[in-house]
Amino acid sequence: MQITDKYSFHGELSVPGDKSISHRSIMFGSISDGLTMVSNFLPGADCLSTISCFRKLGIAIESQGTNVMIHGKGLHGLSAPSGILDAGNSGTTTRLISGILAGQPFESILDGDSSIRRRPMARVFTPLTQMGAAFQSWEADAFPDTLIASASGCAPFSIRGGHLHGISYQSPVASAQVKSAVLLAGLYAEGETSVTEPALSRNHTELMLTGFGAQIFSEGTTASIKPEPELHGQKIHVPGDISSAAYFIALGLLTPNSEILIRNVGINPTRNGMITAALAMGGDLTLLDERTVSGEPVADILVRSSSLHGTDIGGEMIPTLIDEIPIIAVMAAFAEGVTAIRDAQELKVKESDRIAAITENLNAMGASVTPAEDGLSIEGGRPLHGTSIKTHQDHRIAMAFAIAGLNAPGETLLDDRECVAISYPSFFEDILSLAD
Ligand code: S3P
Repeated sequence: MQITDKYSFHGELSVPGDKSISHRSIMFGSISDGLTMVSNFLPGADCLSTISCFRKLGIAIESQGTNVMIHGKGLHGLSAPSGILDAGNSGTTTRLISGILAGQPFESILDGDSSIRRRPMARVFTPLTQMGAAFQSWEADAFPDTLIASASGCAPFSIRGGHLHGISYQSPVASAQVKSAVLLAGLYAEGETSVTEPALSRNHTELMLTGFGAQIFSEGTTASIKPEPELHGQKIHVPGDISSAAYFIALGLLTPNSEILIRNVGINPTRNGMITAALAMGGDLTLLDERTVSGEPVADILVRSSSLHGTDIGGEMIPTLIDEIPIIAVMAAFAEGVTAIRDAQELKVKESDRIAAITENLNAMGASVTPAEDGLSIEGGRPLHGTSIKTHQDHRIAMAFAIAGLNAPGETLLDDRECVAISYPSFFEDILSLAD
């Protein structure tokens, strides 16, 4: 797909529902008693993978556009899967479902696409094994015709659920996927289960599971859960995804003569680092009509063209903007001065190695980016130009560089536009709806 810098952007839009919250609504609804009704669900490929996995586990799920109805069967109502559970491109599906399957009295096999097969799953195998489940990775090349045991700690893998007992787990990574997997297994364990992280990651699991009736307690970077006899189906309205809004925040700030109002965006403090970073870079950004929807803080976000400058990003802020770093790096390349991003080694194990993908593509556009083991240093303010972008089939790299291309003279060519459907199927249509 070709992109040019001939537009300014005006008007308002609502970005699609939050991906993390949409996944959780399906999972928690499936293991609750009764109906869970979800509105503004994200019908992106990742969340559809979660629906397909739970259907294979025997749950009836009706979906029509952004409305989904889940006929939950309770904590012990899942049945042994009718085949391999395919998580597609979704790390959230793979890791969170592992926590639930760890507590089931049957064996399940999980697999996904080539990206999922490279991503580290040992981070959930380790605590869930300590709790009493058993995991085995299989050689991907021979799978599924022949099962050859592998020590990769990656998909494809089998989970044999066990009789679980609670643990106090010190997670080496600040990861909501690891935390959630352990807390979900904790629903099935004897005694209390707790997870302590090096920095607080997104807390949607804690908030939503509490709404379903679980006993969860959070203090600092520790979350604990007690086993629960039953959860109860809920009505959930999913807020707009701040990770999707991030591209429109950047578009409005970077493009001259632009003003965009993004409606109904989740601004949970464990997710809102993009707003903090945009303000620290001098962005003209205002939060309007702050409110609470389904237990999550929400606001409308107004952005106007701004002259940005560099900033430092690291430490506890990283988990609050981990998925937004590709678009923040693009903003930094257009900003005056240096932006340093540290403590973000997790970027290497996302849908692609995002440190490498950001560096190679921004430098190909004429920027000056130096990669590090745990981040990037971006010397902003150099004139950028359009070029061929390697997305690595990573949705967030594709969307970040579409925004870069809309602000760089010459033509920018994305080698894959389809991958945006993982989290934002109408991304290009939404951009066009604002273009003058
Ligand atoms: C997610 C957590 C984050 C994030 C991912 C979604 C979640 O991953 O990058 O896109 O829904 O829990 P980690 O928990 O691995 O950091």
